[in-house]
Amino acid sequence: MSAEPFLPTPSTAPRFGVWLIGARGSVATTAIAGCAAVAAGLHPATGMVTETAPFTSCGLPSLSSLVFGGHDTLDCPLPKRAEHLAAGGVLPHGLPSAVHAELVAADREIRPGGPLPGAPAPTQEALIDAFASDIRDFVRRQDLAGAVVVNVASTEPAPTDDSLPPSSLYAAAALRAGCPYVNFTPSTGLHHPALAALAESSGLPYAGRDGKTGQTLLRSVLGPMFLQRALAVRAWSGTNLLGGGDGAALADPAAAAAKNAGKERVLVDTLGAAPEGEVHIDDVPALGDWKTAWDHIAFDGFLGARMVLQTTWQGCDSALAAPLVLDLARLAVRAHEKGLSGPLGELGFYFKDPVGSGPSSLAEQYAELRGFAGRLRDDGGVGDDASGAAERGTGR
Ligand SMILES: NC(=O)c1ccc[n+]([C@@H]2O[C@H](COP(=O)([O-])OP(=O)(O)OC[C@H]3O[C@@H](n4cnc5c(N)ncnc54)[C@H](O)[C@@H]3O)[C@@H](O)[C@H]2O)c1
Repeated sequence: MSAEPFLPTPSTAPRFGVWLIGARGSVATTAIAGCAAVAAGLHPATGMVTETAPFTSCGLPSLSSLVFGGHDTLDCPLPKRAEHLAAGGVLPHGLPSAVHAELVAADREIRPGGPLPGAPAPTQEALIDAFASDIRDFVRRQDLAGAVVVNVASTEPAPTDDSLPPSSLYAAAALRAGCPYVNFTPSTGLHHPALAALAESSGLPYAGRDGKTGQTLLRSVLGPMFLQRALAVRAWSGTNLLGGGDGAALADPAAAAAKNAGKERVLVDTLGAAPEGEVHIDDVPALGDWKTAWDHIAFDGFLGARMVLQTTWQGCDSALAAPLVLDLARLAVRAHEKGLSGPLGELGFYFKDPVGSGPSSLAEQYAELRGFAGRLRDDGGVGDDASGAAERGTGR
């Protein structure tokens, strides 16, 4: 299969689609509402790396040019979903009504996902075709210059047989529809061996897996610190408490195992070997979207002196994830426009389990991302000052 060509529309201001798998979830709803709020100047773009230099000058689509749609297996309308999030304090009060029109417009572009529990099971091929034609119809109906597919659906367990799990069906559909693909979740997506040849021959860029928003973000900063200071980490243990849809999905031990593999990979990659210790995830519905993550790091210093570092991260999960989803959508759309294809290893900054073989420390990943911004520029980054400090940009 070969990719459909990237076709700029003749209109003066091209618009780009962001097709979200799991479009009615917390992360998706926060991204859609947040994009509208920032584009309208109602809130600053806090947490969006693409709104800082040098990303503001590399031709990324503006936030106001993004058009949202997607698949979900739930039918709760987006404005209602946004109200639930506001009631839980994830979105500011008043935001759902301020961006009601944008939520309604995105809601009209959400199509039923699958496979639906209890429904007759179509073949995998039929599902891929149906998903791909939903995406193509969206691009045509909205007269879009291109679209990216981003997976923000519930985490699924790693597959135990050869059949494609839903995330892989959607990933195949993205390629069939000629769209770049980003997997923000730990689910299999394009990582399935049966999709390797398709991904390679598609000529499309793709990135993943699993957004790095909290505990793993800290690990990718602290791991290199221990290594560079020649301190010996003896054990690194972590516990997470969270509620919401993600907490409920991760109550399934198989889904939690998929998530924890990425968290542990960061330690192996930054420390050179896996220290003792495990990661646990507990579903605490009362906490909603607020996650508390504790890490306990036992390490040895000079002459074997025993020491401990403990960290407590208290984050609002969707508020941490949504700006990254917007960043990734803009970067992938631009990469496609520039004709890049294959795994976008330079986006490892955003992921727990990045594609490709890039560095694993956050500082090095950030340097790679800045270099990537140069490649996205029309002048290919000639004369780019990749060493300058990030400044707040104005790229709306
Ligand atoms: N900080 C973060 O929030 C963060 C960080 C990294 C990764 N993630 C991942 O992002 C994903 C979304 O998190 P969330 O908090 O929005 O979860 P959520 O439960 O609120 O939303 C998930 C959505 O996916 C939908 N869904 C489930 N199966 C589907 C299918 N087969 N097809 C289409 N839609 C389907 C659900 O109906 C739901 O609306 C999770 O996989 C999570 O692990 C989140």
